[in-house]
Amino acid sequence: MRIDVVTLFPEVCEPYFRASILGRSQASGTVEIACVNLRAFSSDKHRTVDDRPFGGGPGMVLMCGPVFDAVEAIESQDPRPATRILLTPQGRRLDQELASELASRQRLLIIAGHYEGFDERIRLGLKPMEISIGDYVLSGGEAAAMVLVDSVVRLLPGSLGDEGSAAEDSFSISAGESQRCLEYPQYTRPRVFREMEVPEVLMSGDHGRIDDWRKQQALERTKERRPDLLTGSDSESGDH
Ligand code: 6GU
Repeated sequence: MRIDVVTLFPEVCEPYFRASILGRSQASGTVEIACVNLRAFSSDKHRTVDDRPFGGGPGMVLMCGPVFDAVEAIESQDPRPATRILLTPQGRRLDQELASELASRQRLLIIAGHYEGFDERIRLGLKPMEISIGDYVLSGGEAAAMVLVDSVVRLLPGSLGDEGSAAEDSFSISAGESQRCLEYPQYTRPRVFREMEVPEVLMSGDHGRIDDWRKQQALERTKERRPDLLTGSDSESGDH
């Protein structure tokens, strides 16, 4: 997979993409990630990319020209069709299902805005998918781009060291079923820490009992904290 992120702050995203699983996934060739500075596509000597809104009002609006030019230049570098994504609080809320849908694409072209918003013709002309990472407002799309890229890349085959670990995550959607659960509690050394003991079953070596205990714990925790995951009502997140 190839991912391009268009942003005014490439220096914010780049170190994140170099670290940990994302860094390893790039080193192994599973994914190629490039941050592209939107200012490089400005057409004036001041490198302007935003302007005041027609009709007045607060803040600045991201201009069409640099965004269209960046998208067209990036797309022409590679014959594979790109899935265009605009990061905006007005978009479809990111969840595990959307992350796995995006993990099946060959190329993602992510546009992270800043300022009050985008000129509406960016939406009308480029017809991107619009994605939000949750119901709160960020000052820019960079943090959202890092979240989105991370959630997608870790799903790519060969990305995680242990192939089982993505399937066992909270929210993971296993083949063909929609059962979503939070994760069961985990423990590691030492066996007793400040008088808190590791549950006996985990020390038993009986993998049948351990599996049953973990399933039950996961279910109880989900019922208690996120009953909406079990009913599929999505009451906590209120889908668009
Ligand atoms: Cl994608 N962008 C901004 N600016 N704020 C957000 C968001 C995106 N998702 C949630 N809040």
